[in-house]
Amino acid sequence: MRQIFWQLSTGLLGLGLFSGPTLAQHGPDWPDWAYGLLEPLSADSRVSPPCPDGSRPIDCAYQGTPVPDDGIKRSLPDTDRTFTRNEAYYNYGPADWYPGDHPEMPDIVAHGKESAGLRACALCHYPNGQGKMENGHVAGLTATYFLQQLEAFATGKRRSADPRKANTNEMAMIAAGLTDAERREIAAYYASIPFQQMVRVVESEEAPQVRTTSNGLMLPIEGAPHVPLGMRVVEIPEEADLTELSRDPRGKWITYAPPGSLAAGEALVSTGEGRTVQCGTCHGPGMTGLADFPSIAGRTASYTMRQLWDFKQGTRQSPIMQPIVAQLTAEDMLYISVYLASLQP
Ligand code: HEC
Ligand code: HEC
Repeated sequence: MRQIFWQLSTGLLGLGLFSGPTLAQHGPDWPDWAYGLLEPLSADSRVSPPCPDGSRPIDCAYQGTPVPDDGIKRSLPDTDRTFTRNEAYYNYGPADWYPGDHPEMPDIVAHGKESAGLRACALCHYPNGQGKMENGHVAGLTATYFLQQLEAFATGKRRSADPRKANTNEMAMIAAGLTDAERREIAAYYASIPFQQMVRVVESEEAPQVRTTSNGLMLPIEGAPHVPLGMRVVEIPEEADLTELSRDPRGKWITYAPPGSLAAGEALVSTGEGRTVQCGTCHGPGMTGLADFPSIAGRTASYTMRQLWDFKQGTRQSPIMQPIVAQLTAEDMLYISVYLASLQP
């Protein structure tokens, strides 16, 4: 079956549906960690289900066996709401733990469109738009930038460079399935919510051992000793159970990074080090955004690294950002991503 998926996906490359590099192009510096993966791509890898035009967005997701609901009503601090695991995960109306944290959600944010297999934005980005390392952070983006990105997804200009990352394909189909009016309503909604600091960077030679979900959420293996980190980042929720079982939208992240990352990243971002340009020229002082240049401060390092790598591979097309990353190595981008994650948004 895996082989069939693989052949299908590479066979579809010519149609532009799967524009990621092929197996042979994945070099040893490929940042698997940023895509929430523990292993390099191989012929045995599970790759995203084929997702040609006309699919429903949910058909692009990995289809697992449904998890039986344990029926346990869980709670979180400072809310009187309770949800079981499966209520919290409901595709067309996931948990809204803290209605006071955001304005009233547009229906499509809260419920998606079940008839079209379009899952709620709030499922992956949370009602408050803070988002997660395996998805993205949509609160506080300007409506103009937000709409540009939906257009890029819908027209095939924003794809994952890694053929295993199914949720980016699903995101593209979601964008293609929205009307202009829906896009504008959602963009205005998420633009109205300030994005908040969510990452704590820890420079360390060692990091927890992790497991990963099919969507690329990294979770610590309880009780396992820390292992050498090497040249990668391990990014996990501060409270794994609350994020995994309850989808806590106030959840924060710990980013384990190699020693020296913050200083190296700061040097690259502020001077370019002869290999790139100063990011603040467009992304503003403190990298918190300028006009419709997006804020890049305080987002998870995994998310930022994927964007830089996707720009470099050309699967996220941007005539402005592509030359900026052209001379950067995977190591440079790791340092930049970690430094940016540490900044106050
Ligand atoms: C199944 C999960 C999923 C759902 C549901 C989902 N998204 Fe996404 N979204 C993603 C992923 C994954 C990314 C980031 C892809 C990547 O890493 O390149 C993303 C990224 C985005 C971005 C880009 C953010 C940036 O900083 O550039 C926007 C905008 C966005 N989503 C809007 C939406 C809207 C609007 C909806 C609901 C109509 C929605 N998403 C529903 C998974 C999802
Ligand atoms: C000349 C202006 C300019 C400069 C300089 C610049 N950027 Fe960008 N950046 C952009 C634009 C425009 C986008 C939106 C690209 C698109 O169309 O998707 C962007 C997008 C990004 C994104 C994706 C944001 C998201 O929400 O997904 C990241 C990450 C990023 N830039 C990092 C950097 C870094 C790091 C530097 C410095 C090394 C840098 N940029 C320098 C203009 C710039």
